[in-house]
Amino acid sequence: MPAIVLIGAQWGDEGKGKATDLLGPRVDYVVKFNGGNNAGHTVVVGDEKYALHLLPSGILTPGVTPIIANGVVVDIEVLFDELTALSSRGVDVSKLRISANAHVITQYHRTLDKVTERFLGKRQIGTTGRGIGPAYADKINRVGIRMQDLFDENILRQKVEGALDQKNHLLLKIYNRRAIGVDEIVDDLLSYADRLRPMVTDTALLLHQALDAGDTVLFEGGQATMLDVDHGTYPFVTSSNATSGGAVTGSGIAPNRIDRVIAVVKAYTTRVGAGPFPTELFDESGEFLRAKGFEFGTTTGRPRRCGWYDAPIARFTARINGVTDFVLTKLDVLTGLETIPVCVAYDVDGERFDELPVNQSDFHHATPIYEEFPGWSEDITGARTFDDLPKAAQDYVLAIEAMSGARISAIGVGPGRDAIVVRHDLLD
Ligand code: GDP
Ligand code: IMO
Ligand code: MG
Repeated sequence: MPAIVLIGAQWGDEGKGKATDLLGPRVDYVVKFNGGNNAGHTVVVGDEKYALHLLPSGILTPGVTPIIANGVVVDIEVLFDELTALSSRGVDVSKLRISANAHVITQYHRTLDKVTERFLGKRQIGTTGRGIGPAYADKINRVGIRMQDLFDENILRQKVEGALDQKNHLLLKIYNRRAIGVDEIVDDLLSYADRLRPMVTDTALLLHQALDAGDTVLFEGGQATMLDVDHGTYPFVTSSNATSGGAVTGSGIAPNRIDRVIAVVKAYTTRVGAGPFPTELFDESGEFLRAKGFEFGTTTGRPRRCGWYDAPIARFTARINGVTDFVLTKLDVLTGLETIPVCVAYDVDGERFDELPVNQSDFHHATPIYEEFPGWSEDITGARTFDDLPKAAQDYVLAIEAMSGARISAIGVGPGRDAIVVRHDLLD
């Protein structure tokens, strides 16, 4: 089972970091293929807690080669900060390789992210402010800076000049900000070149060779299906393809090499930032999920919006990504609820939708049609087999599995590395 894609099923923060960490000892490479330091993955190893943003979570497993592939946008300052922080805690980061084709996030991308959000006012997306959207916009506009440009000062200068030409007009005349100097950007980027040189390579070739040699490669998605720029709740999305297709374009590995697609799905739903969210709760149930699940952003610290499980979203995710297995996380958070509602379909102005409405306005108006399941009160954090779970928890899992379009192969029952019930081997 050499090439495995692992992605988020909802609006992010499903526990992808923990799931990656779980598979870590059995994989040789972990590849980040989309997004940048907008991601926030919390991994708990014993008493140690790690918060990763730009680096793939697999970096925590000794022996794994972490890859930042071409689909990622890299803030180099953040990269070195994270590497230094991990090294000082004894994590070996020497194997990291970065694609020569990955794009770079610069100061002007971060500035533009913040000023455009402010300009949008009530229509703002609620981005993480890390410069992600503007960096991808430059990539698509063909004025981006790539990692390889840092090794050719002439080319770098020309490209930064080209990128800043229009942006400085915008910053000065529209946004009332100071213009950004070409030299300050070029000097800043060049200051990292020597440290980057040994890490930057043709990662697509490296991954092909690894797969040919029979190594196991895990592609770790950032963000999630509903935040995908093509398939998510546009425009309230991130600017990359967070779905399994993104693993292909974002790494240079062909689709027919992918053997398995694992989607990580929470036993309820959360979202950070603006945009439609049919099962969102505004009452004490939402507070319960937020407090018990500790639903505060790993990247920005913002309280996450919380709601019940949405089965049409899980089915959508299963279709769009070709999901073979779900990892259901945070089942333990639901302990103590008398009944647990699950959204089985939507009502849009009196019409029933069993699947996600294609029209975004309909999705904004969608009210969930719920089916209620009995809750349980037993502590499940010590469960390690499906039979260890109380009957009501088993029934909840089986019910949502039947609605979600793929089997639930593992169930998270706590934040720790070992707090998991495995029903089917994820790599077999
Ligand atoms: P990611 O962005 O998908 O990697 O997820 P985050 O790390 O942002 O958010 C998931 C949070 O849930 C982290 O704090 C994890 O430690 C925690 N977590 C993961 N799985 C479980 C679980 O099964 N139960 C509980 N209680 N917490 C979990
Ligand atoms: P992980 O990998 C949750 C959200 C932001 C905002 C929108 C666009 O931890 O699951 P961006 O800065 O990407 O342009 O913001 O996407 N967002 C996330 N929400 N988890 C994430 O990553 C996210 N990355 C971006 O809140 O609504
Ligand atoms: Mg997260």
